[in-house]
Order: sequence, then structure tokens, then C-alpha cells
Amino acid sequence: RSQEKVTIHFINRNREKITTSGSTGDSLLDLVVNQNLDLDGFGACEGTLACSTCHVILDQKVYDQLGPITDEENDLLDLAYGLSDTSRLGCQVCLSRDLEGITVCVPDGVNDMRSSEDTGPKL
Ligand code: FES
Repeated sequence: RSQEKVTIHFINRNREKITTSGSTGDSLLDLVVNQNLDLDGFGACEGTLACSTCHVILDQKVYDQLGPITDEENDLLDLAYGLSDTSRLGCQVCLSRDLEGITVCVPDGVNDMRSSEDTGPKL
């Protein structure tokens, strides 16, 4: 099956709009990586469901359009900075024709679960 291009608008952490496109089947994280989008700290675990830095906020309509969320994704989302009712992890959302032209909002902060234990000063 041939891949089709899907246009996606990102709102970055500075509330600026970035319009890009990716192939159907790619995840939002793939898109950020492939297009070299400058989204600070996004996708720290490279899509292995071990951080929550790929947290994105979607329109209700788009959110409803996507398939059900796995327990693993839900558990991680609970830890994401600025969680909303229409939050998803970008590495778990794959592009399809239906998503043509959607806007994906990247929250203005991240919570990287992997580093939270290592931050304070060492005694
Ligand atoms: Fe880490 Fe998505 S990139 S959970």
C-alpha cells in the first residue's frame, strides 16, 4: 500500500504554529524526529513508552477519532505535565488520512519520568 502525506499543524511550546507533513502510518513522534521540529525535550525515550515528554493535547473531535488508549499509555499520561481530557502520547498516535490538517498542541512543559529520581543534589 502506498503511503500518503498528511498535513499536521503543531503548536510548539512558545505557542508558535509549525505546519509540517508526514506519511500515513508514522507516529507524531516520527514526524517530529523526521522533520527535525524544534520541540524542546519531546520524545526523550524515543517512543518506548518510558517517558511522557511526547505529551500532546488534541481537539476533542480528533481525540474521539483516534482509537482506544492502552493501559500503558494511560499510566504514563497520568504523570504528564499539564494533563488534559484530550491528552495523548505523541509516540502512540499514528497518522492516517482522517487526521489531515489537524492541530496538535504541545504543552509548555515536560515531565521526564526517567530523570525525576536523579535531579536533587547528591549528599
Ligand atoms: Fe517517551 Fe512517547 S516518547 S512515551
